[in-house]
Amino acid sequence: MATARAHSNIALAKYWGKKDTELNLPAVPSISMTLDAYHTTTTVEFDSSLAQDTLILNERTASQKELHRVQQLLNRVRTEGSVPHAARVISRNNFPTASGLASSASGFCALALAARAAVGLSTEPGRTSALARGASASAARSVFGGFAELPAGTRGQHHLKAKPLFGAKHWDLRLVVALTEQGPKAVGSTEGMENSRLTSPMYKGWVSRAPLLTRRVRSGLKHRNLSRLGEAMEKSTLWFHACTMSSTPPIIYWNGVTLTTMKRIVRLRTEEHVPVYFTMDAGPHVKALCESTHADRVAESLAKVPGVTGTCICGPGPAAALMEGDT
Ligand code: DP6
Repeated sequence: MATARAHSNIALAKYWGKKDTELNLPAVPSISMTLDAYHTTTTVEFDSSLAQDTLILNERTASQKELHRVQQLLNRVRTEGSVPHAARVISRNNFPTASGLASSASGFCALALAARAAVGLSTEPGRTSALARGASASAARSVFGGFAELPAGTRGQHHLKAKPLFGAKHWDLRLVVALTEQGPKAVGSTEGMENSRLTSPMYKGWVSRAPLLTRRVRSGLKHRNLSRLGEAMEKSTLWFHACTMSSTPPIIYWNGVTLTTMKRIVRLRTEEHVPVYFTMDAGPHVKALCESTHADRVAESLAKVPGVTGTCICGPGPAAALMEGDT
């Protein structure tokens, strides 16, 4: 038995689309910031007296679909660790599940780390990252604190893993999360990005140009150049959403408040001279990137946008870690 905690991460350069769906390999490289405020804590216990795997997610029994995805990861751990037993998994998020706040990233990262530790396999970050990536590619990045990169995969590459770029203290950045809706998102990322790959006329252009944006995001981070980073991040966001909107059926992750919030951020920057940039994931919430000195001002301003139900200021968070005791 072992318990692990992993923090969620938000991509500054987005992963959207798979090179290999079987092995879950991303078609484009991505870079993320791990968030201090949002985390998942997961306990995994392999038990010879259990007839089958069980999964409790936020105090309720998980659906068959949720359990199936978790079992695929557990099966890999059982094979590698030569442990035949079923497992009891208890997982808890301190934030809304499946709402575009990267619960699958923190969830599968915590699961991978706890499961490996529970059967005595190496918990070296690269091994944990590759295992988590197989379940949900963004989860590979949550293994690391601060800022991490997941390269694009090449077909058949079983052990693709994320790598740490800069530690949490590298730069005092903040992502101000503006919540624009309650409840889970309509179309999950896995389904959404497959839909883009198979049907969007924009997809090829995205895959060929995304690496350039990732390089700019990396360079902006390295040199602590917010405009270089922010401009590339906004492009990465808009280009990937252009893929979802131009797919069949079209997927529009935004709501009206998303758009108003995004425009508010642009106005803050262009008219009020606050250096701040927007990003959105596969959900309606908006995240605003700025330096810590401007975070309160940005949060106050976004909280006033009609329809925004809450804001949260997130700093660069810690690496995933094993914990004493249970959840
Ligand atoms: C928009 O990692 O959830 O958040 O690998 O199919 O589980 P799967 O997808 P997932 O996709 C995340 C998409 C994103 C961008 C990102 O986090 O890079």
